[in-house]
Amino acid sequence: MIYTKFQEIVGTKYPIIQAGMGPYSTTDLSIAVAKEGALGLISTIGMAAGGASSAAPETAKEIFGKGRPKTIVKRVIQYVFDNLKDYPDAKFGVNIPVATDFTYAATKLMKGTIEICKENPEMQKKLKVIVTSAGDPLPWAIDALAKGAKKARIAIKEELPHVVWCHVCPNVRAAKRCEKAGVDIIIASGREGGAHCAWRDVSSMVLLPEVVRNVNKPVVGAGGFADGASLAAALALGAAGIQMGTRFIATQEADFQEMWKEAIVKRAETDTLIARGLFGPMRFLRNDMSLKVVDETIKDASDLFRGIPCSSNEAIMRIEMTGLEKLLEENEDESIILGGVVAGRIHSIPTVRELLENIMKEAEQIISNLPSLIKKEKLLEIKK
Ligand SMILES: Cc1cc2nc3c(=O)[nH]c(=O)nc-3n(C[C@H](O)[C@H](O)[C@H](O)COP(=O)(O)O)c2cc1C
Repeated sequence: MIYTKFQEIVGTKYPIIQAGMGPYSTTDLSIAVAKEGALGLISTIGMAAGGASSAAPETAKEIFGKGRPKTIVKRVIQYVFDNLKDYPDAKFGVNIPVATDFTYAATKLMKGTIEICKENPEMQKKLKVIVTSAGDPLPWAIDALAKGAKKARIAIKEELPHVVWCHVCPNVRAAKRCEKAGVDIIIASGREGGAHCAWRDVSSMVLLPEVVRNVNKPVVGAGGFADGASLAAALALGAAGIQMGTRFIATQEADFQEMWKEAIVKRAETDTLIARGLFGPMRFLRNDMSLKVVDETIKDASDLFRGIPCSSNEAIMRIEMTGLEKLLEENEDESIILGGVVAGRIHSIPTVRELLENIMKEAEQIISNLPSLIKKEKLLEIKK
């Protein structure tokens, strides 16, 4: 039985996080994941625009409703909580990206999350985690200014001491900043992951053990994880768990279009690409539409590859907006479809229960078979 620091701290049955995947809805997915013993995350960034993205399935639109980000996040949290009332051990969390572009929305989303936890002590037993991402964690720390932040935002752990604060980071420097901020669990996000990524290229294989070596906090690996083999590998590299995005999209319960799920299953490991997205580099599934984004990206390529920040241009915004609308028609060639390299290792659309049980079973088998495998190989060597 695999039991890591992650399970000890968060209280889940499995050391697995279902990633935040805004601006899309992961509301139903987070319920399914929490029911089955992993950590389900509500994605919030789509709420910043006053409701679900126009490309969201109808059910997601209904649950989000319309309103200000704070109202929507409270409504969705309540919905998830209500759906987990018969599952006393279920745990869920909220992903709030804190990039500078989103500070206003992030503050409102954080306030809504804090309010609903304070209003209802029962909520605190289930809403156990806040995952911040896409920005600097330091302004959200206790004593942020004293710790060197230029601005202080909401001190997450002061407002909600019960919460396990996780932050997603793409390099060792950012991981050390998480440690300084007082983050409880660091999520090291390798470049093979779906959607937003860093231009600077660090894969999970390099990033994860290097973050583990440099910080004195539990680390969760993200980017490229999909099954028991990759969970076992993450544990071997020193991680306390894994976060998966693309793998969870291709599940029965995920609130994503069927076309998207099938597109992931169809892709080989060579069928994703990175281009310039609305708010920085993004990993897309390769299709006609993402190739159009590449054409536009190339026009500014030298700035981008030197790491000079530049916001999206009008042409890319137009392509992305059209690509989002085309999701509704489930038109695979003309939609913008996000996903990680790991799409090449995803070959089915299981239920969340099947997925999680298989991952745990496979990881446990691999770990317990490893000593005999190594021994066998030694014997073969000797025979030669
Ligand atoms: C469709 C999509 C949307 C995403 N949106 C967010 C987001 O809103 N916030 C965030 O922190 N990460 C976001 N991510 C990244 C995931 O949280 C996760 O770290 C990543 O998917 C892990 O890599 P994998 O796709 O190889 O599993 C998104 C990923 C995908 C595929």
